[in-house]
Parts: sequence; structure tokens; C-alpha cells
Amino acid sequence: MKNIDAVFHVRGESEYVDDLPQPAEMLFAAIYCSPIAHGKIVQCDLKKANDIPGVAAVLSAKDIPGENQIGPIIQDELLLADGEVHYAGQPIAVVIASTPQAARKGVKAITAEFDESPIITDPKVAYQMGEIIGTPRTLAIGDVDAAWEECDIILEGTCTIGGQEHVYLETQRARAIPMEGNVIRVHASTQSPYATQRTVAKILGFHHNQIEVDVKRIGGGFGGKEDQATPIGCFAALGAWHTGKPVELVLNRSEDMRMTGKRHPYISDFKIGAANDGIIVAFEVNHYQNSGAAADLSTAVLERTLYHSTNSYFIPNVQVTGTCCRTNLPPNTAFRGFGGPQGMFVIEAALEKVAEVLNKPKEEIQGKNLLKRGDPFPFGQLFQNNHIQRTWEDTLNSYDFDGIQTRIDQFNRDHFATKKGYAVMPVCFGISFTTTFMNQASALVHVYTDGSVSVTTGGIEMGQGLYTNIAKIASEAFGIGPERIKIESTNTTRIANMSPSAASSTTLLNGNATVLAINQILSRIKKFAAEKLNVTSADKITISDEKILHNGRETGLNWCDLIQKAYLARIGLSAHAFFATQDIWFDKKKEKGEPFAYHVVGTAIVEVTLDCIRGRYDIDSVKIVHDLGRPLNERVDLGQIEGGLAQGLGWVTTEDLQYDQKGQLLSNALANYKVPDVYFMPDDIQVKFLEDADSELGPYGSKAVGEPPLMYGIGAYFALRHSMKAFRPDLEFALHSPLTPEKILMSLHPELLNDLKNHDTSPVSLAEETI
Ligand code: MTE
Ligand code: HPA
Ligand code: MOS
Repeated sequence: MKNIDAVFHVRGESEYVDDLPQPAEMLFAAIYCSPIAHGKIVQCDLKKANDIPGVAAVLSAKDIPGENQIGPIIQDELLLADGEVHYAGQPIAVVIASTPQAARKGVKAITAEFDESPIITDPKVAYQMGEIIGTPRTLAIGDVDAAWEECDIILEGTCTIGGQEHVYLETQRARAIPMEGNVIRVHASTQSPYATQRTVAKILGFHHNQIEVDVKRIGGGFGGKEDQATPIGCFAALGAWHTGKPVELVLNRSEDMRMTGKRHPYISDFKIGAANDGIIVAFEVNHYQNSGAAADLSTAVLERTLYHSTNSYFIPNVQVTGTCCRTNLPPNTAFRGFGGPQGMFVIEAALEKVAEVLNKPKEEIQGKNLLKRGDPFPFGQLFQNNHIQRTWEDTLNSYDFDGIQTRIDQFNRDHFATKKGYAVMPVCFGISFTTTFMNQASALVHVYTDGSVSVTTGGIEMGQGLYTNIAKIASEAFGIGPERIKIESTNTTRIANMSPSAASSTTLLNGNATVLAINQILSRIKKFAAEKLNVTSADKITISDEKILHNGRETGLNWCDLIQKAYLARIGLSAHAFFATQDIWFDKKKEKGEPFAYHVVGTAIVEVTLDCIRGRYDIDSVKIVHDLGRPLNERVDLGQIEGGLAQGLGWVTTEDLQYDQKGQLLSNALANYKVPDVYFMPDDIQVKFLEDADSELGPYGSKAVGEPPLMYGIGAYFALRHSMKAFRPDLEFALHSPLTPEKILMSLHPELLNDLKNHDTSPVSLAEETI
């Protein structure tokens, strides 16, 4: 089955928020944002914006009729700044005008005076100054303090891990339309319609049932619209409430990049102890998360970092601590992996150090410490199967790892200025929202009298193929062709109180709810069919290929006949169902529990080639064995693996967020923030699905796939380090990510860097001299 959106996408027919026909008299919004990163607003002159032709309203904090508060977990974030600002790009006022151009002219006309305060951009500095969000958390198992005694070697290090811009194709946007009787309908590009609904209601002082949020699909979210689409919907709704007219807000790329949060940068100090044979005895980490200026989802992201601090390994003595540190950057937020990648990066870095000191290949250390069935994670949950070993061995064997090693070693002996490197990257990622109550979903299914079917769930199609998966599930469950099934937009009047589409769990949660709803309808119509066919047991009735079977034999009755007859017999042909994942829990006081329904695992081998004179590199190949249970749709899942991998590769290589001393984003456009493109991606990507790995929980044995493959990308970082060491075995390289070509060049030639520092000349003459 093809992705059901594919044809619309290719023809450009897919509808997004601003493709809907424009209602008459629609107005457009633009946002006036803080030009400085920290300070008091001494005065702000909005009147000049009002004088711009076409401007209909200029709204600030005092124009919010309800509560000026949008914090999703901790109530620490205003929709519009009031008196002070905490990051450059923080919204201060909304200008509403007859055209987007007039609205932006209005924004430009606004002038303000600030009393600037010092800023913090470094999470460790924030920590030292007591700028902490929530409380630090620690997970522990065994006794690290006692275990250091048993170690033959003990090493310490620090990782500096960069953030990441989401670069969804569709920038943040929303359209709000006033409806009869104090109702506002919001068409939003959000992963979380209910968050938009309840927050718009809060800022307007409305009941939830007065706000309707509808999402047809979104042009990518990647976590960036799990929570940060909410204020966008609020701005549009606030404008609609004040003007009584429909209002649309569409951020352009640079506005989006400056205003919204990103993946959290971390600074993480680690200490690791091992025996001479490479068995890891103890591991201690301190994560300083750069949370930005407000909590957003940072505490939940930190929690997932802690849960993934040992990745695919069993370590008997572990202590991991994490702190959300408040800085003067935009509040950082969910991003594919949700803190997991940072946790995994640090343990991989620590194992790399152990391998270096023990003078053993890293994969030998990794292989010796893999989690086995029944091993506990530091938070108490036991690992349930042997799939880490299976994917590890399958990867090394089926892709001829020995051959790769030999080939690369030989290449490096034969070449002076070009070096190759490889790394093996295992991934073990927990599936479920770590916030247990969020693991719930609903579905609404109608069968019409012609046999066609309508399905609504609380899940959002964001390019990941959710609608294709749901159509496949509905088609299997009913026993009818997928072309009979229509997946409806996600709408808060049809599905209430939905969780965001996130945590890779959307198909799991909403797919199971869909099956439950379909089963209700099936049990009614099968009972009816048994009566019609004069057979005693409805259990023996099945539907396959649209034929009604009894004991597996054709009855002459087909799907459409049965539905027609059931309707005339007044059998209900609609159902709503609710699903919640069972047996997951967490006790935050004890920091123990079983937060995950299961883990998704896999292993990748990454190969790279580095030009050691220029710092340029190619990712040559990525070869993966991935556990995704029984795929609902192999093409959809493969798309998720390749897409996730691309984002992971970008995160550790070319995607380099830069802020200046004043907290201004320098990498504020796609010309100076480099995402991987088709040329950057390896020519050779091979993916094998682990056999016999069906999930008991996922619909039809499927497993979550959205986020885990991103973390294979981390392998590229260590493959690059491997090639760097082949060129300069005499040097120690810092554990800083991303490894941009510039950074590699500087690291490989520190002498050059020193030369540059000792000169007191302009960059231009320096460059000439160097050449
Ligand atoms: N794939 C596409 N094409 N677009 C996206 O926005 N988001 C990712 C992942 N894959 C995303 C994507 C993230 S962050 C998550 S959590 C999951 O998809 C969400 O969808 P799922 O729960 O259906 O896997
Ligand atoms: N993933 C994504 N979003 C979340 C999670 C999670 O684990 N927990 C709370 N919100
Ligand atoms: Mo994904 S970061 O859970 O939206």
C-alpha cells in the first residue's frame, strides 16, 4: 500500500492551513518580538504601528482577556511579554492588518526602549548562578561510590552537545475563525490540537468547548509543534476575538528560526570506570541541560535523557543526575528523540574514552556490555528480550564488519591525507510517553450505508505516515479494501482531550483505539449476520476480502449487502473507543518504575571518508539492522528510518546553531544553518528489519518507528573521530558536537590555530599568508 498522501503531495494538492480558501475579510497577523535577550521594557510605543495603513489592531499583554500564561508543565511562560523580556525573539505585541505586508510594516514601526540586563547562554553558568528550572533529578542503581574501588581504570570527561533547529517544511502557522455564539475555530499546524484548544480557551477566558481545533495534516513537526505551535494558535485567536474577523498568522523562515525553541544543547560531565577486560563497572554523569528562558517541555525532555543514559548497555553501578538550566535563549523544546539522543551521546563518548585508554577497538567494549534479557535499567525496568544482541550480531555478520575493518585499515595505511573511519552504533529507545497519563487515545469510526468508512483519531499526520497506518489497520480489522476508508482531519469536536502526536506512539495509541472501535461495530454486525444466516455462533463469522465467511467458507453475503441490511435492521454502525497502555508506571519519589511499554532497538555501522587537509568529509555508508516488529507498511517504516537517520547525521555534523554574545541567533536562515541534503546523505544506506520480533502491544504486531532511527546518526560522530585519530594519533580530541568541517580542520591542525592566534593581523591577510 502506498502512502495515501503521496499523490496529493507530488501534485501539490495536499492542503495545509493556508491552502484553505480564504474567508471574506480575513486579516493577517505579524509578531513584534524582543530585539534584546534580557531586560526591562522601559517603554514600548505601539501607536506608530496603528498609523500604518491597513493595520486593524495592535495587541499587547494588557489586551489578553483571560490568563496571560502558556507554560505546558510549569506555569512560567507568558504569551506576550509583560514588563520584561528573557530572550531575543520573545513576543511582545501582535499586529493585525489587512495584508501580511501591512502587518509586518506595523511591526517595523514599533519602537521600544529597554533597560538591558546581563545574559546567560551557558547552562553551567546558569547552574552556578542558581538559575534552575524544576528540581535536579538523579537515577541510581548499584553503588557508584563503592564501585570506583573495583575499577582498573577510571576516566573523566566533558561532552558539549549542540542543539538543533527543526526545519519543518511548513513553518509555524494558524488561522482562527470566529463562529456563531462565541466560538472560535482554529486551523492549526500543531502536533497537539488539545494543547492549542485548552490554551486558547485559557488566554481568552473561554470554556474548552468554545474552541474547536482542526488539523488536516502538518508539513512536519519533529517535536517543534508538540508544544510551540500553541502560542501561534493563541495569537491568531486573540486577533480574531478582538477584531471579530478571521485572522491568519504565518511565520516566515527567519521569524520561525529566531522565535522558536530547538533541541536542547547539553554540557555533560561524566566519569566512567572499567575493568582491564573492558567490562564497565561504574558510570556517573551530570547533565546540564540548556533549557532556554522558560520550562516548556524541558523537565520531560531531561527525564528521557536520564532514562537513556546507558543506551543499549548494562552497567551495574550508575548514577545519573540532570538539571534544567535557565538561560536567555528561546525556550528549548521537544525534538525527535526528546532528550534520548543527548543521553546516548554521552555514554558513547565515555565508551570511546575507555576504548582509547585500554587500547582496544570501541566495538569490543560496546559488544561486551550489551543489555541482555532481564538486565535492569538504572530506573528499575528490566530489559525484556535478546534483541540488542540479535541486532548487534546480525549487523556485524550480515554486513561483513570484519571485511569493513580490514578494508578501512588498509585504506588508511595506503593514504596520507585522506582517512576513513567507522563506528558501530547500537540504539535502545523506550516507547511510551514518559508522563504515564499521556498514554491514552480515542477513535471514532462510522460505516456509511454504502459500505464506505470514516475514521477519526486524535493522531496528527505530520508526514510520518500515520493516516496510511490507520487506513491499513482499519482495512485489516474490517476485512475490506483500504480504498473504502477515509481518514478524517483531526478535530477536537470529534475526539476530546487527545495527547500530542509524539513519543513515536501515535500509531500504537490511536491504532489500538481504532481497532477497539471497529471491534464494537464488528460484534454488532456479526451477530446480525449470524441471525441472517441462521447460524448459532457469531464467533465463526469473519470478513475477508469484503466477503462474509462462516467457518472460513463463503456465505454469499458481502460487505455492502450486510451493511445495507444491518442499517435497515437498525443496527448501530458507528463507534467511539478509548485505549490506554496498561502496566506502565513510575514513582518519582523512588525514581523507579516501568515507564516504557517496550524498547525499540537496532544497530548501525557508519563509514566515513575525511579529507584531512580541508576538513571536508563524506558519510559513505550506513548499514542498519532495526527491530520494528511486524511492519504495518514497510515503505512507510523505511521512510521513517531514512528520515530519522538524516536528522541524526545532521545533528552531529553540519547543523551548527550559533548565538552571538548578546544572545542573538546568528544561524538564522537556511543559508547559514546547514541541514543534510540529498548529496550529503550516504549513497549506500542499507536497512534490514529484524525477523520474528512482533510486538504484543502494537496493532498487528507493529512497533513504534518515528524517533529511534535518529540516534543511529550519532555513529557518524564517532566514525569521524576514528578517521581523525587515524590522521593524528598524537592528539586528544575534545568531545564537542557537532563536528563541522571547520571544527575538524581546527582540531587536526592545532599548530595552525596557534599560529593564527599569535598573529595580530586582519583575517584577510591571515588567509593570504596561510595560502
Ligand atoms: N516524520 C515526518 N515525516 N515528519 C515529522 O514531523 N516527527 C517525528 C517522527 N517522524 C516527524 C516524523 C517525531 S518527533 C515523532 S515523535 C514521530 O514521528 C511522531 O509520529 P508517530 O508517533 O506516528 O511515530
Ligand atoms: N515524548 C514526547 N513528549 C512527551 C514525552 C515523551 O516521552 N513525555 C511527555 N511529553
Ligand atoms: Mo516527537 S519529539 O515526541 O514530537
